[in-house]
Amino acid sequence: MKIMVTGGAGFIGSAVVRLAVARGHAVINLDALTYAACLENVASVAESPLYAFEQADIRDPAALARVFETHAPDAVMHLAAESHVDRSIDGPGVFIETNVTGTYNMLQAARSFWEARGRPECFRFHHISTDEVFGSLPPDPTQKFTEDTPYDPRSPYSASKAASDHLVRAWHETYGLPVVLTNCSNNYGPFHFPEKLIPVIILNALAGKPLPIYGDGSNIRDWLYVEDHADALLLVLEKGAPGRSYNIGGENERTNLALVKTLCAILDRLRPKDAGSYADQITFVTDRPGHDARYAIDPGRIRAELGWRPSVTVEEGLEKTVQWYLDNAEWWRALQGRAGVGERLGKA
Ligand SMILES: NC(=O)c1ccc[n+]([C@@H]2O[C@H](COP(=O)([O-])OP(=O)(O)OC[C@H]3O[C@@H](n4cnc5c(N)ncnc54)[C@H](O)[C@@H]3O)[C@@H](O)[C@H]2O)c1
Repeated sequence: MKIMVTGGAGFIGSAVVRLAVARGHAVINLDALTYAACLENVASVAESPLYAFEQADIRDPAALARVFETHAPDAVMHLAAESHVDRSIDGPGVFIETNVTGTYNMLQAARSFWEARGRPECFRFHHISTDEVFGSLPPDPTQKFTEDTPYDPRSPYSASKAASDHLVRAWHETYGLPVVLTNCSNNYGPFHFPEKLIPVIILNALAGKPLPIYGDGSNIRDWLYVEDHADALLLVLEKGAPGRSYNIGGENERTNLALVKTLCAILDRLRPKDAGSYADQITFVTDRPGHDARYAIDPGRIRAELGWRPSVTVEEGLEKTVQWYLDNAEWWRALQGRAGVGERLGKA
């Protein structure tokens, strides 16, 4: 299959690009190369004859039309987005432009291309979204997000992603565009940009800096290893039913505090300090405004209909992730000088 991946120089997009090429798909990586992008993430496939890169902005409809015309993809996997909740609190405008208008531009470009080719049924527009569109859950472990949970986004980021999901469904209902949607929980793993919780904790720990935990650390997330996520996304692209959405979770709920303690214990083993534990560096900081209490995915649909399950527990995935950061200092050091990285953002 020839797949156009938008946002393929980012964290999840690059995992999709690497896996798709490894499985023999041709990939066109369309990315504007914002502050969050890093072409090093796809260096392992950059020389492959199956790989092509197009620097283009999804806010630019003419550029999108050109890329569709040039490459004639069989499918689109749309991951390009502004993705950091804290940045959406400080500057929501670009989240609307990229996540809402950019998705609208992608849908229009895909639709024109698809209609001009006689509306092939096998074409797919796969929209990658987040569980944050569903809002916040109470601690009750029996309550989880299903595909039918009503939307209740609470941050500028999640509201912009919710809007994009609605547009994608509307293009299916109104124009018949063969879309599939996925909403996933928090990802982690190699190549995670050093402004997100897990890399911040690993890198601050190694630098002897405080390990910042928002509020009291009781917020719960359902952690999904990024390579498991990429595997699920390719499965949905190939086997998902048009018009249908699938929730993807790691089946690994942890409080932020428990997660950070696990990371500290792994670091204590893999890179012991001269004295004491990395957990001694834990510091509680002012909470994020509107910080959702709990996210948890009910993965029943993707498991029953497509037979997918995550392959690693969070402990196994974190061990691999910590080892990757220990082995790849050159990668993360190069990103630490980028604007906003290492600063506390989104206090409002
Ligand atoms: N990271 C998570 O835990 C998570 C969880 C659920 C859903 N998602 C969704 O998955 C997708 C990928 O997330 P990520 O964490 O890899 O994001 P990321 O921030 O690491 O990467 C985003 C990529 O999109 C590109 N991009 C941004 N604006 C663009 C524009 N206007 N035109 C073209 N390219 C642009 C960036 O250059 C970057 O390479 C997003 O849609 C996000 O909403 C992420």
